[in-house]
Amino acid sequence: SRKIIIAIDGFSSTGKSTIAKKLAQILNYIYVDTGAMYRAVTYYALQNGLIVNKKLKEKALINKLDDINISFKYNDKLGYAEVYLNGKNIESEIRTLEVSQFVSPVATISEVRRKLVQQQQLMGRDKGIVMDGRDIGTVVFPNAELKLFMTASAETRAKRRYEELLERGQNLSYDEVLENVTSRDKIDSTREDSPLRKTEDAVVIDNSNLTINEQVNSILAMIDRLI
Ligand code: C5P
Repeated sequence: SRKIIIAIDGFSSTGKSTIAKKLAQILNYIYVDTGAMYRAVTYYALQNGLIVNKKLKEKALINKLDDINISFKYNDKLGYAEVYLNGKNIESEIRTLEVSQFVSPVATISEVRRKLVQQQQLMGRDKGIVMDGRDIGTVVFPNAELKLFMTASAETRAKRRYEELLERGQNLSYDEVLENVTSRDKIDSTREDSPLRKTEDAVVIDNSNLTINEQVNSILAMIDRLI
């Protein structure tokens, strides 16, 4: 059957990546976590003194963009691809609250977006891809065959992210996590370049009260009708 592009957008911690990974495994598609790419740039900025006293040196980061090489490598054991920065696996380094606190400001920079979007479009040129992020249906693949827009209540989302961070052994309060989720959503949906938007043709999935299997099954049914 023909291969398609599945674009998944939505607010933070709506479970996009969980669903995207499952779909990719079932369909034997490539899964690309574009948030990991913005996080990788942010991690680079933190590591290279481009964020000082909580201030992001935007021009200096733009000048360094050619030195930032982001790649993905499939991990057999995990069943999905992990993100690498200049050849080093940084999958766990990018999931900290520190990276989460600076990633949305970094993602407002047009030069950063242009670089990453170009790479994302290349990864999807043969289709057979599930990509999640904030601008996939609007900017990266406006012609994607299937666009999903995921939402859930802010409390559901903060609770999910909080439990995920606890599992990773990070000691944070629920309030800190809720604050981060809501402030990122605000920056992401109000920025000038590629704000988070639902397109006309996107299917909305509010998963506050849906299990992972329920979501995956209903999406697979949509795909069946498409291919
Ligand atoms: O998906 P995740 O929550 O890891 O994304 C982290 C941040 O990266 C988002 O809050 C957003 O600021 C940025 N992002 C983006 N465009 C994308 C994916 C992520 O601006 N396509």
